[in-house]
Amino acid sequence: MNREADLVLHRARLLTVAPLGDERPRSGPAAGDVGAIADGWVAARDGAIVATGHGLAWQRLELVPRSTVEDVAGRVVMPGLVDPHTHLCYAGERWDEFTARRSGSDYLAILERGGGIHATVRATREATDDDLVAAISERIARAAASGTTTIEVKSGYGLEPEEELRHLRLIARARASAAIDVSPTYLAAHALPPRANGDRRAFLRSAQAALATVAAEHLAEAVDAFVEKGVFETEEVAPLMHEAASVGLARTLHADQLNDTGGAAFAARVEARSADHVSRASAEGLRALEHAGIVAVLLPGSALFVGYPPPDARRFVAHRVPVAIGTDHNPGTSPLEGMPTAIGLAVTMCGLTPHEAIVAATINAAHALGRGARTGAIVEGRRADLVVLDTDDERELAYRLGAPLVRAVFANGRAVSPAS
Ligand code: NIG
Ligand code: FE
Repeated sequence: MNREADLVLHRARLLTVAPLGDERPRSGPAAGDVGAIADGWVAARDGAIVATGHGLAWQRLELVPRSTVEDVAGRVVMPGLVDPHTHLCYAGERWDEFTARRSGSDYLAILERGGGIHATVRATREATDDDLVAAISERIARAAASGTTTIEVKSGYGLEPEEELRHLRLIARARASAAIDVSPTYLAAHALPPRANGDRRAFLRSAQAALATVAAEHLAEAVDAFVEKGVFETEEVAPLMHEAASVGLARTLHADQLNDTGGAAFAARVEARSADHVSRASAEGLRALEHAGIVAVLLPGSALFVGYPPPDARRFVAHRVPVAIGTDHNPGTSPLEGMPTAIGLAVTMCGLTPHEAIVAATINAAHALGRGARTGAIVEGRRADLVVLDTDDERELAYRLGAPLVRAVFANGRAVSPAS
């Protein structure tokens, strides 16, 4: 082996999460296979993984000058974490709502009264471009420090298309200087803006009309909608989703989060790349997801903070629906930060095993963002997105909730956070 490398991590418990013969997301009995290699190593060059192995074979690599070679002394090295669902583009916090919900106020009732999402919309509208870019960038950097090397960022607190486009352009600015890979999403139908005066159809038509600009300026990779009782119905957003497909944008949905409104089956109908939340998805919805091979993105943070029953991951695994997990970071339903916490909650609240949660937070989440062949696994040819844990047993990620176990992070072969 006379391959060149500029980064080598050796003497690792290496979790490759390597594909099992095909490039589909993991489901069913394969959902917990992390592809562990004892005394393993990974080598990268110019941001791409060039080889993996075990023992001392890495010593035959040709190391270029100023290479990073680290003996990780038996620690876990795993793929960089992928957060497939965040709402990082916002200003202001929602302390009052958070407090009111503790004494019984209902999330959807607050929204209907013009609070909730609308409160964040008002604060975000008032924020300057520079302040918003700084806030988004800081949140991305914090995610990176906790092991995230690919992150989805939604708009959605603009509501009116012009303001949504402003947010998407600001996300693009933050993306340009981010150390990690950012996948932007246009959350086109999050709530009905007050200025729509109740005219849902006219609003949805205007959101649909904005898709041409979104596609032309490459402002988003996907289009999202909040399909929920009292928010938007599946049939209402169908034209938006079809138009998204016709301009080359992927589809994703907030589906069956608080109530079953047929969102999961609808996600299958519009060939969405993921159906997210899905706490209330019916058996029929799960069958539709399984049949269409759509990733279910479980977001236990919002179930925890809002207090609704979390999705039962065992149902999804039993139905062979591929499962991913995300933080859903947002100021309303899920202020939680960091994929390690989401992994812990997915295990304790949703019933994934620790290994299933690691698959859900790496390769399956990469699939949810259309990056299933690019990242999410430690395999030759993929981006060198790597995390070194301060433990020799990856199950500790789920077990010691909140513990700072992320020791080092490499995104595209470069260290993005110093060892803690
Ligand atoms: O993922 N459900 C809709 N959207 C977000 C919450 C938005 C908010 O409350 O600010 C979610 O839960
Ligand atoms: Fe969300």
